[in-house]
Amino acid sequence: MIKLAIGLVLFGASLVSAAVLPHIDVRAELPSPECVNAIKQIGLYHEAYDASCTQLVYDCLAQVNGTEGETADLWSVTSCTTAATCQGTYWTVFLAQCWNSDVDDASDLPHLNYNIYANIVGDCAWQEGGCSSTFQNYVDWFYGALSAVDATIWPDFSTVEANWDYIVGWTLTGDTIPYTNFDDWLHYSYTT
Ligand SMILES: *[C@@H]1O[C@H](CO)[C@@H](O)[C@H](O)[C@H]1NC(C)=O
Repeated sequence: MIKLAIGLVLFGASLVSAAVLPHIDVRAELPSPECVNAIKQIGLYHEAYDASCTQLVYDCLAQVNGTEGETADLWSVTSCTTAATCQGTYWTVFLAQCWNSDVDDASDLPHLNYNIYANIVGDCAWQEGGCSSTFQNYVDWFYGALSAVDATIWPDFSTVEANWDYIVGWTLTGDTIPYTNFDDWLHYSYTT
């Protein structure tokens, strides 16, 4: 009899706490169907899958996750900028918008942070007229970004080459890419 009474008290207590609990964080809700579809694109670029790229994409999403009201400036975040080059700008921006409603559409995003560009090309960025990124600059920057997110999966070198080729194929700047053209690619290429 006493046990039953205790059981009833505990049952009552759990009903009370259950009634108090539901205070749902907006971000804990299920993602929209559009975002569920976008998540399925992670790591896919030009119809090829690159697992190494997913590490940059997830880091980027973690960086912008829930920072509404603060900066949601994708091209000031190294993992987001490198992710754009292996995931494509379209889905990188789309996914970031799923995790942060303040992220602007690609064409409205702020310009590529010049410090990031200087990380790609080195000190010549600060010389009169700046300088263009070479393929080697891009390779070093890309692998450096993977190291920075403690990557455990590394890309095939041919994939990194292909990703560079997609950019120069769009910028039509020959073997190198100047700041302005790379910035334009980030804003207007909508690559998938
Ligand atoms: C975003 O933040 C929420 C709450 O902290 C966390 O549960 C979730 O895993 C984060 N998502 C990403 C992609 O980082």
